[in-house]
Amino acid sequence: MPDIRRIGILTSGGDCAGLNAVLRAVVYRAVQGYGWEVIGIRQGTAGLLARPVDAEVLDIDQFTGMLLRTGGTILGTTNRGDPFDYPLPDGSRIDRTEEVIDGYRLLGLDALIGIGGDGSLDILRRLAIQGGLNLVGIPKTIDNDLGHTEVSIGHASAVSVATDALDHLQPTAASHSRVMVLEVMGRDAGHIALSAGIAGGADVILVPEIPYKIAHVAAKIDALKQAGRNFALVIVAEAVKRDDGELVTRTQPGGMVTYGGIGHYIGERISEITGAETRITVLGHVQRGGMPTPRDRLMASVFGVHAVDLVARGAFDRMVAWNNRRVVDVPLAEAVAGYHAVDPDGPLVRTARGLGIAFGDG
Ligand code: F6P
Repeated sequence: MPDIRRIGILTSGGDCAGLNAVLRAVVYRAVQGYGWEVIGIRQGTAGLLARPVDAEVLDIDQFTGMLLRTGGTILGTTNRGDPFDYPLPDGSRIDRTEEVIDGYRLLGLDALIGIGGDGSLDILRRLAIQGGLNLVGIPKTIDNDLGHTEVSIGHASAVSVATDALDHLQPTAASHSRVMVLEVMGRDAGHIALSAGIAGGADVILVPEIPYKIAHVAAKIDALKQAGRNFALVIVAEAVKRDDGELVTRTQPGGMVTYGGIGHYIGERISEITGAETRITVLGHVQRGGMPTPRDRLMASVFGVHAVDLVARGAFDRMVAWNNRRVVDVPLAEAVAGYHAVDPDGPLVRTARGLGIAFGDG
């Protein structure tokens, strides 16, 4: 058993609902169960780069009230500033990994728990190997595209928000005889669109894993009309390409490319071909905030406790995971390498097809 007295924790990559619930579980288990001190590092690895290191002691008292229930992360996070390829204001890039590793040492940490998606867990793992840091990972991503775990924190809450949006769109679609197009996140996977589309009663689900033809989408809308339906609901994942194979993206200041806008394209094409009146909703970051669902809070609690227990056992370089109704842990290397896309032949796609939902592929 390693001699652990002080552990660090950070949130990294895009935020999502349920991160504060993970922090709470880690603090409760580490402080009450093992008597350790927990240091919360601010803004992901940026906190370890700052001098003085940007971090605070996390106490149980902070977590007894609202934090279990809130979105965002009290530690802050970032999805840029990779220390292996750190961008400078003049556009050049440098390696700042030794500074991050020094930050860990300056805090006197015996281990680090990193909460992230595949990109940030991969960066943390490479830092841990380089610096000999004791790392345990906890999976979070609304996109649900991490391999080797059936659950990642934040996905269930995002699906709940997207389903809610369809629930809100259906009555107004029916009142005005419109086709409503809802664009949801999921870079580059269609899990949110698929799950919310089924749960929210969509007529068409478009995901990047299943190539579509706009003519097939239009045919589904026409068929619904001929059957007497005066509205339709279409849900489209942001990473779906236009008919010509192009992604709809925007380059942000600093060069980061983000998705957004495919919903408008799909809506316009449906109008052109069918003559239907369409309206577009781009859900965006609404999917990332808000209260975590009970499922996300439950999994946050399970993952937080198990991650601390792994540290106590000295089981490092592993990621906690949920598989076959059990919390388990898997090698971090396998988790970040195992991308999990929507399976076009999987049970959820089959379920959707069984309900008559179209994917625009025939
Ligand atoms: O990976 C999570 C995610 O929300 C994606 O679904 C989305 O494409 C991206 O992050 C948005 O990033 P940003 O917060 O930088 O706009």
